Amino acid sequence: MKVNSGIPGLDELIGGGFEEGSVNLVSGKTGTGKSIFCAQFLHNGAVNNNEKGLYLTTGETINNIKKQSKNFEWDFEALEKKGVIKLMEIEPFDIETLIERITENIEAAKAKRVVIDSVSMFELYMHEPFKIRKSLYKVLQRLRDMGKTVLVVAEVLEDSKSLSRFGVIEFMVDSVILLQYLGIAKYKRSLLIRKMRMTDHSTDIHPFEITPKGITIRSV
Ligand SMILES: Nc1ncnc2c1ncn2[C@@H]1O[C@H](COP(=O)(O)OP(=O)(O)OP(=O)(O)O)[C@@H](O)[C@H]1O
Ligand SMILES: [Mg+2]
Repeated sequence: MKVNSGIPGLDELIGGGFEEGSVNLVSGKTGTGKSIFCAQFLHNGAVNNNEKGLYLTTGETINNIKKQSKNFEWDFEALEKKGVIKLMEIEPFDIETLIERITENIEAAKAKRVVIDSVSMFELYMHEPFKIRKSLYKVLQRLRDMGKTVLVVAEVLEDSKSLSRFGVIEFMVDSVILLQYLGIAKYKRSLLIRKMRMTDHSTDIHPFEITPKGITIRSV
């Protein structure tokens, strides 16, 4: 089963949408559109597919996400009142508590689509690489077991060529979508499907725009 992304032009590049029950990484430097991408995915689920969504955030405040979404006419406040979207700030406690809190909230929200924005905060709180790896693996496996379609945001530092801060999570997810901001030429923003397991996906670099309706992939 495929879960449509809500990003015009994307689903046809990834074989119809995200795989149901998959964990997908949205990776990019600051300001590349990661949070907008995720908000659009949840909004599309709630409004067009009757699928509940949960937005878990560590990096941005709920207010910021709501405010930014309003500019695209995605009224998360109204959707929250209707009970189809839930936004939550989570504190990265110890990993066991974190997994528990995440799963409890997903169950309570009856969410089918889940966003974690971002995973970098978890990584920062866990200093030992081995511990990071093990903890992340546990969280992601739990989400897959629950059959949710998940977007996880990874922040990439300005001078880095990696797909995440610690170069670990990209190996644990089913797909990686890399957002880039070049700031030059006609098309300043681009999207690359860096990997998508078991999918004959596009391997081109696709320019995209952030329009008043959100992210749209441009055909070139
Ligand atoms: N209404 C809008 N119309 C066009 N572009 C916008 C609009 N709102 C935001 N943007 C662009 O999107 C960027 C922010 O996108 P987003 O918040 O998704 O980035 P991000 O990748 O999550 O960044 P960070 O890692 O810092 O959280 C802004 O810097 C701006 O360039
Ligand atoms: Mg963000």
